Amino acid sequence: MTSSKFTSDRINRIQPSPTVAANALVTELRNAGRDIVNMTIGEPDFDTPMHIVDAAVLAIAKGETHYTPSNGTVKLREAISLKLSRDNGLSYQPDEIVAGNGGKHIISSAFSATLNAGDEVVIHAPYWVSYPDLAVLNDAQPVIIPGNEENRFLVSPTELRNALSSKTKWVVLNYPNNPSGAVYSGVELELIAEVLRDYPHVLIMLDEIYEHFVYGENRHVSLAAVAPDLKERILIVNGASKGYAMTGWRLGYGAGPKWMIQALTKLISQTATCTSSVSQAAAIAAFRGEQKPVHDMLAIYETRRELICNQLKEINGISFIPPAGAFYLYVNISQLLGRTKPDGTKLNTDDDVVEFLLKEGGVATVSGKAYGMSPFIRISFASSSEVIEEGCLRIKETLKKLFK
Ligand SMILES: Cc1ncc(COP(=O)(O)O)c(C=O)c1O
Repeated sequence: MTSSKFTSDRINRIQPSPTVAANALVTELRNAGRDIVNMTIGEPDFDTPMHIVDAAVLAIAKGETHYTPSNGTVKLREAISLKLSRDNGLSYQPDEIVAGNGGKHIISSAFSATLNAGDEVVIHAPYWVSYPDLAVLNDAQPVIIPGNEENRFLVSPTELRNALSSKTKWVVLNYPNNPSGAVYSGVELELIAEVLRDYPHVLIMLDEIYEHFVYGENRHVSLAAVAPDLKERILIVNGASKGYAMTGWRLGYGAGPKWMIQALTKLISQTATCTSSVSQAAAIAAFRGEQKPVHDMLAIYETRRELICNQLKEINGISFIPPAGAFYLYVNISQLLGRTKPDGTKLNTDDDVVEFLLKEGGVATVSGKAYGMSPFIRISFASSSEVIEEGCLRIKETLKKLFK
């Protein structure tokens, strides 16, 4: 990425999204004729369920193709209110909800609407790549709590308390977590809430975008349901992207206190006007309509998760905790560092391992460095069983070359 004398200090402070960049590299290599198995994918590989597509087509035919209110149509916000009650046991009125162009747009708008220079945003590693850059973009300082594999990548109440200060404006909690798959139990959330009660000046962002994808005995519980007394400081971020296989529709939402929703609405009125009217109509069908497609997708992810865990656990030099949710494995590669590649050079970092797997094995993964916790790589299982099997085989064959 080249900067120019015309780019602002603000834009020069941030990096392009590393996951978007990893995907772009796969496309580039494929265009150059390389056969690459892509395990960087951060989105469902399913098509949007047909009843949602039908609702969008109908909306277009009916002329629902104009600007909407900046916070989204009343019908959409009513559907989200219903969804929050049905799925999360939460009571949010339509005027406590704002729609945006994806969850990412809600997060960046929330930061813009609240952060001042010198504020701190507490984020725990491994984290979704955009939080620190979005904090920096809005003049704030990310405060990173180091990741802890022994604690299943969860932040402990003590670690959280130690990271909070008088400068903290936001704590970001993301579970099911991208990239680690970590999920908090209700009891663990009670303990987190106890800490947050002691810091009344701190806002709490709950990124629940992967809520529908939790496996085995795990359940998704919103901190907002566990600690209703914190509701005035919580912003729930969610959307249609992952749960309904609608990443390209760009439909996210925030649910929170009225003052914050009004601030976000004001910002969106000046920056985006509103999110697509057609996507809003589609999302009403997603949130209100039958939920079977979500359950079907969950069942498929569950099978893929088992497949990838079984395949990868046989491979020498890597280890991982089976993810409780989302659709990624965060794989510890510390045993690969210091090993010598067939060309005689050594693997020193997770970036080196990603490059080795890509160039030598034709399989694309994402470096843990992007998620603030090394030496790890993120492997996605949002792909067909065939792709997963082929990818795992390539990883196995490529890593074998390090153990000769
Ligand atoms: C943890 C997390 N939050 C938010 C998002 C943003 O999703 P969208 O903007 O598509 O709603 C993503 C997308 O990858 C994510 O992984």
